[in-house]
Amino acid sequence: MQLTIFKDYHTLSQQAAGEVIALVKHKPDAVLCLASGSTPMLTYRLLAEKALAQKVDFTRCIFIGLDEWVGISPENEGSCAFFFRTHVFNHINFSASRIYLFNALSGNLAQECATMNHVIEKNGGIDLMLVGVGMNGHIGFNEPGTSFELYSHVTQLDETTTSVGQKYFKEATALTQGITVGLKHLLESKKVLLLANGNKKAGIIQKALEGEITDALPACIIRQHTNSIVMIDEEAAGMLV
Ligand code: F6R
Repeated sequence: MQLTIFKDYHTLSQQAAGEVIALVKHKPDAVLCLASGSTPMLTYRLLAEKALAQKVDFTRCIFIGLDEWVGISPENEGSCAFFFRTHVFNHINFSASRIYLFNALSGNLAQECATMNHVIEKNGGIDLMLVGVGMNGHIGFNEPGTSFELYSHVTQLDETTTSVGQKYFKEATALTQGITVGLKHLLESKKVLLLANGNKKAGIIQKALEGEITDALPACIIRQHTNSIVMIDEEAAGMLV
């Protein structure tokens, strides 16, 4: 694991976008597994700008959506699918046939997980995973207590996740379960970028990077990955010893 501390959110996002561009230039059919959420929003905007300026083509890439709220429609503004359409697909030329998102309305979520696992495997694994970290230390919807050995799975959401998650929705929304790519996928990804910015993430970043490695705090798994970069701004680094 490598730790890089940037002076601010913009510089961090520039660097993260640059990492994705560099990979896709080198490997035009890269398998990318990306998070939604507030953290990577600027990264995706800058990624779109760089892709346009540098004529980087994403049409051969595979896009894997990291997670989704179970029972939430892709038309709901708070869904991860809506986020990806708004912040990624409307600006970067991914091929529709190479985009894989969990269908969280499916009556057979186990099949959704099996399909995602199969897509990842048949395409040779994930080349780059770009993730954020939740206020409870989750990655994707791998909540505290999740085994590092799991691939895609359905999860019972933690109270922190269901309350913090309200920020994505226009109105109060019942959130109980999530469907997510697993931590085993993260460990097997060729490269992982973990992004965090702002004072509010300082405590969880300190625990993830300096505390005990335990499944009670999923984000600490990043230290077990040999090709991961933790990219944080000075505020998020504020409690590191
Ligand atoms: C979203 C996701 C979540 C978020 C995390 C941080 O797809 O996987 O794990 O990355 O909750 O969210 P933000 O970036 O909104 O602080």
